[in-house]
Amino acid sequence: MKLNAVVVGSTGLVGQRLVNYLSNHPWFNLIGITASKEKSGKKYEDAVRWSLEKEIPNKVKDMIIYDTDLEMISSLKPDIIFTSLPSNVSTVYDIELVKRGFTVISHASNNRMEPDIPLLNPEVNADHISVLKIQKKRWKGTLLKVPNCVTSILTLALKPIYDDFGIQQVFVSTMQALSGAGLNGVPSMAILDNIIPFIEHEEEKIENESLKILGYITPEGIKLNDRLYVSPSVHRVNVLEGHLESVFIKTDKDVDVNDIKESLTEFRNNKIKNLDLPSKPKDPIIIKEEVDRPQPRLDRNEGNGMSVVVGRIRKDKKNWIKFNILGHNTIRGAAGNGILIAEVLLKNNELLDFQ
Ligand SMILES: NC(=O)c1ccc[n+]([C@@H]2O[C@H](COP(=O)([O-])OP(=O)(O)OC[C@H]3O[C@@H](n4cnc5c(N)ncnc54)[C@H](OP(=O)(O)O)[C@@H]3O)[C@@H](O)[C@H]2O)c1
Repeated sequence: MKLNAVVVGSTGLVGQRLVNYLSNHPWFNLIGITASKEKSGKKYEDAVRWSLEKEIPNKVKDMIIYDTDLEMISSLKPDIIFTSLPSNVSTVYDIELVKRGFTVISHASNNRMEPDIPLLNPEVNADHISVLKIQKKRWKGTLLKVPNCVTSILTLALKPIYDDFGIQQVFVSTMQALSGAGLNGVPSMAILDNIIPFIEHEEEKIENESLKILGYITPEGIKLNDRLYVSPSVHRVNVLEGHLESVFIKTDKDVDVNDIKESLTEFRNNKIKNLDLPSKPKDPIIIKEEVDRPQPRLDRNEGNGMSVVVGRIRKDKKNWIKFNILGHNTIRGAAGNGILIAEVLLKNNELLDFQ
């Protein structure tokens, strides 16, 4: 028997990916979709500005879009709700829905840093689900957050190195795709023939969320990692999908390139390695040996967009290593991760226990 799912904010770039996954998922059944008032009451295929490579799934084409209204969503009695709304809007809906007892997986940045709200990148910190016990004292329902896109991609590659050799400092310079800003995000006149060296609030998100994902479980919730320093510098570039990150790390131990390659390939402490989950990539981290890889257009769909691709691993001075990472921002960095979180939750029986 499948669990009933609703996507709130189904017409945006993340919402479209969610709808696509959920229209053909072995564990979830899509029963409702919402968008803004202007689109409610319309057929999905008439209202959506569809942007994925594949056609709109047949199951969704004729679905009528509901207004994003708490009573309406509640009346559908979903087992799980995926929200992909702008963060100022999401703040209200996420909290009201968990107060009503629903399980919510939210993609927006609001509430991500609260200690009793798991901010999950499953291969890295699936065990942070345990703080739901603390959250349960606050609300009848359950709220889990999907991390910022750069942060999901970055922490996936950092985790094995952190576990094997310790990391003290991370400098990361990003080249972020247009889709990261949403369907109406960056005007073409601003980005054609251009690079924009600023994305509002992005650097704070990468810095803080990395410390939470690589943080510690305590009786009060997740405590931020206090031995790691992450310093990002972000850029919007003229690429449709796929964030490229240029990373410089200082490790505790002096390591060479082969140590790093082995650590990334093995990923010994991968938290979901032995779980059988439909959206889990076979290899969460893929290493490319070619001197000019990874590249967004060539490498973003590795592992159906759920793997990150690491390349140009180079030794710097003592204790320093540098490399490039690429990840698909609307899949690994958003909807794919959201679905994987739901699968982890279900596999842990949390979804049923917490309803
Ligand atoms: N894009 C990424 O790579 C990425 C990665 C990680 C996290 N996120 C986060 O995920 C969320 C969604 O991102 P996105 O890229 O999908 O954005 P988007 O393309 O702008 O889509 C936003 C969605 O929210 C709906 N919406 C907007 N205002 C609303 C309102 N007042 N009431 C009800 N619905 C409303 C839109 O409906 P209409 O179509 O009717 O306007 C649309 O379905 C954001 O918080 C974003 O920061 C995005």
